[in-house]
Amino acid sequence: MTSFATLFFVWMALLLRIAHASFDILPSLSGQEQMAIRSQRDLMSNVTIDQLPLVGVNLRNVIFNDESVNDTESLEAFQSLMQNGVQSFRLDLQQNDSVYNLANTDIELGTFLLAFESFVNMTDDNLSANILTLHLNISNAALYGNSSSNGSVVPSSGSVPNITYTLDQSMGRLRIYTPDDLRNDQLAGATYDNSGLSSSGWPTLNNFLYSKRRRVVITELSNTLNYSETPYIFDSSILHYDVRNKTLETPNTVAQLMNISSISWRYLEADFTPAEIREYTNMGFSPIIANQYSKDNFTSIETILNHSVVWSWDTDQPVTTHTATPKNSDSLVAYNCAVLKYTVSNHSAFWEVNNCYDKYQALCRYTERAYEWAVTEASDTYFAFDRRSESHCPDDYRFALPRTPLEQFSLIMHLANTTYQNIQIWVDMNSIAVSNCWVTGGPYATCPYQKVVSRRNFVTMLTPVTVCCFFILVLVSYLNLLRVPIHSNRKNWKRLLNEVSKSELDGVPS
Ligand SMILES: *[C@@H]1O[C@H](CO)[C@@H](O)[C@H](O)[C@H]1NC(C)=O
Ligand SMILES: *[C@@H]1O[C@H](CO)[C@@H](O)[C@H](O)[C@H]1NC(C)=O
Ligand SMILES: *[C@@H]1O[C@H](CO)[C@@H](O)[C@H](O)[C@H]1NC(C)=O
Ligand SMILES: *[C@@H]1O[C@H](CO)[C@@H](O)[C@H](O)[C@H]1NC(C)=O
Ligand SMILES: *[C@@H]1O[C@H](CO)[C@@H](O)[C@H](O)[C@H]1NC(C)=O
Ligand SMILES: *[C@@H]1O[C@H](CO)[C@@H](O)[C@H](O)[C@H]1NC(C)=O
Ligand SMILES: *[C@@H]1O[C@H](CO)[C@@H](O)[C@H](O)[C@H]1NC(C)=O
Ligand SMILES: *[C@@H]1O[C@H](CO)[C@@H](O)[C@H](O)[C@H]1NC(C)=O
Ligand SMILES: *[C@@H]1O[C@H](CO)[C@@H](O)[C@H](O)[C@H]1NC(C)=O
Ligand SMILES: *[C@@H]1O[C@H](CO)[C@@H](O)[C@H](O)[C@H]1NC(C)=O
Ligand SMILES: *[C@@H]1O[C@H](CO)[C@@H](O)[C@H](O)[C@H]1NC(C)=O
Ligand SMILES: *[C@@H]1O[C@H](CO)[C@@H](O)[C@H](O)[C@H]1NC(C)=O
Repeated sequence: MTSFATLFFVWMALLLRIAHASFDILPSLSGQEQMAIRSQRDLMSNVTIDQLPLVGVNLRNVIFNDESVNDTESLEAFQSLMQNGVQSFRLDLQQNDSVYNLANTDIELGTFLLAFESFVNMTDDNLSANILTLHLNISNAALYGNSSSNGSVVPSSGSVPNITYTLDQSMGRLRIYTPDDLRNDQLAGATYDNSGLSSSGWPTLNNFLYSKRRRVVITELSNTLNYSETPYIFDSSILHYDVRNKTLETPNTVAQLMNISSISWRYLEADFTPAEIREYTNMGFSPIIANQYSKDNFTSIETILNHSVVWSWDTDQPVTTHTATPKNSDSLVAYNCAVLKYTVSNHSAFWEVNNCYDKYQALCRYTERAYEWAVTEASDTYFAFDRRSESHCPDDYRFALPRTPLEQFSLIMHLANTTYQNIQIWVDMNSIAVSNCWVTGGPYATCPYQKVVSRRNFVTMLTPVTVCCFFILVLVSYLNLLRVPIHSNRKNWKRLLNEVSKSELDGVPS
């Protein structure tokens, strides 16, 4: 009898599970993973925004491809991608009367943008802010128009949705870096291109994030908008957007690297394996993941993200000081400095935390040239590689680090040419001033967050940003409320409230 009862409960549990089968969203990043991402952002602060390695997804393939998934869940999954370091999104839009919908869904563009905006709001501080890009592929065919005799669909009302209005309503102009902003920056000499000229090109990440504080760049991949009426959106001519097969050469020489870096916003949209996405990221592409996922296997995108979002640090790096084990308790120990570990067998390079008092060779760069490297002959402690004093670097070379995957690629080429063994070399990245705050600029560089840090415990500052914006969830739940019996929404509300109070406890960086 008891076994029957057990069976019954197991059966009920299974049934409930199936009934609640839902979109599993990606777990939040650990503090350590966030640190790796933040340190990458900070070391790229002098890189122009068109040269950044941004990891992106084709949202139609990855999330919005299953009509049985509800809006709240798919928008939560979308937010969890942003939390996990995805910064670029290809968005397919389809006209439904006077508004745009995400293709194949009944989610309006405005609703999507509110979910997007709520993430931007949550991360609108110096610790978490980063650039985000949207790439719109707008289909001319209206969803609910009258089919003409030859099968093409004509918009029923004849009017095109006003995308400027939608952006104004849901995101606001102040978030968007517009073509006008670019023109102003170019006139003000705040932009750079490959040749160092400032009347063309793009602003540096530093300038983009902290002086303008406009964090979103929107481009259209298709060619349907009327640009005299859409002041917020760049046309596709600024992009180099490859789909499936790359059209850029694989660089083998410094000249080819320079050629590649003269091209702005290099995207490659494709189905990637983890190894492929790493390869293309290293070659200087921003990958757009177009693999098909369903709600059941969505979280497996993590393996691909793990091979692309962090291109610098090794997995599980940077370890925090107290978890690194000292080799020898007699000697001085400070696990606050970064070495680049080069492995000959597969020509790979990753960074890891090491003891600043150990002696290694170090990496030097020829003045400001991005792709010219030298490794010091002398090995020394990290503190000996101060930019301000006599340096072990050759004349006109300075202690340095690779600032982009493409720079690291050129370094690997250099190492492959000059050494036949695995080596570890110091790179200009350390957390000596404040442990957990990784900075570049020699051993005496200061942590830019020192003010924030001294006010609160830095470790609590590093707790993952819990994306649970009450506003958007209420909004979407309200939309759901219109469709489903109130009864089934009770649970949802309880969960929402729980999540909100949890995120209040976690504390959000200000
Ligand atoms: C950016 O460039 C400025 C001026 O050349 C320099 O002082 C600063 O250290 C650089 N920052 C990084 C992160 O490389
Ligand atoms: C299209 O818009 C109409 C109202 O304008 C709405 O009733 C309908 O559900 C929408 N269709 C989709 C697929 O969202
Ligand atoms: C984001 O913040 C702005 C102002 O700070 C506010 O007006 C807007 O409603 C917020 N949006 C969302 C979706 O939370
Ligand atoms: C954020 O960074 C900018 C530029 O570095 C600085 O002017 C501003 O004071 C910082 N804000 C906070 C709250 O630290
Ligand atoms: C935009 O979407 C259409 C299908 O809706 C597709 O044929 C086209 O290739 C897409 N454009 C880009 C640039 O991906
Ligand atoms: C279909 O017919 C419309 C007019 O009804 C015309 O504008 C359009 O070019 C035609 N499309 C094709 C593919 O023939
Ligand atoms: C479709 O066309 C018919 C006549 O051709 C017209 O009466 C109807 O209003 C049209 N529907 C829409 C949604 O425009
Ligand atoms: C679109 O909306 C904006 C306001 O957000 C308005 O200024 C503009 O005139 C509208 N454009 C058209 C073509 O109606
Ligand atoms: C892309 O590459 C594959 C093989 O790698 C080839 O079969 C296909 O024809 C190429 N497609 C285009 C559009 O070049
Ligand atoms: C995820 O599942 C869908 C359908 O079940 C399948 O088509 C797709 O290939 C799967 N994706 C991955 C990456 O396993
Ligand atoms: C590596 O060596 C080859 C010839 O030995 C040379 O052509 C190439 O430019 C070198 N690459 C780098 C990055 O130094
Ligand atoms: C949508 O998802 C939420 C959260 O998983 C759930 O509580 C709600 O019942 C779902 N709504 C519909 C219409 O399925």
